[in-house]
Amino acid sequence: MSQAEDPSGDRRDFLYYATAGTGAVVAGAAAWPLVNSMNPSADTRAASQMRVDVSGVGEGTQLTVLFLGKPIFIRRRTAEEIEAGRAVELNELIDDDARNANNEGAEATDENRTLTTPDGENTGEWLVMQGVCTHLGCVPIGEGAGDFGGWFCPCHGSHYDTAGRIRRGPAPENLPVPAAEFLDDATILLG
Ligand code: FES
Repeated sequence: MSQAEDPSGDRRDFLYYATAGTGAVVAGAAAWPLVNSMNPSADTRAASQMRVDVSGVGEGTQLTVLFLGKPIFIRRRTAEEIEAGRAVELNELIDDDARNANNEGAEATDENRTLTTPDGENTGEWLVMQGVCTHLGCVPIGEGAGDFGGWFCPCHGSHYDTAGRIRRGPAPENLPVPAAEFLDDATILLG
């Protein structure tokens, strides 16, 4: 019989909590310093974040920074790159997950992988991704490389499109988009 069907269930729970109540207060006081010490400190959080000045990144160029030991590509896409990315239908993709830490579980549309600018718009201009091939971890080459005008991994021949989505080759997933946001017109915060 489930608890919902047991008319005496509520009463038993009440008795249990009434008995446990006093002890829980004492145990709670002892447990708090431990739990509190397990939360990351401000210093730790700061160490896992990075501010990047993108004021010098012109249209059609890419800045690569090292963040938490991995290369991060910050690309300011051209109108043509945006148009090419947005013209792709989901059913053409190998991986239909956006792989975007800012947009978890979203479909891999071009819009779902690019960054919203400080004015609240997502024009598709800014694409931030981990530059690590999802096959075996090589660093893909960019600047319009590969058969889809995005990135190409020379290790085993994976082609990524202008939104960093895997389109051909052995890599199973789109290049991951890390947690990132614009702090102001010239600064992106990673992490
Ligand atoms: S590591 Fe990129 S294709 Fe194998």
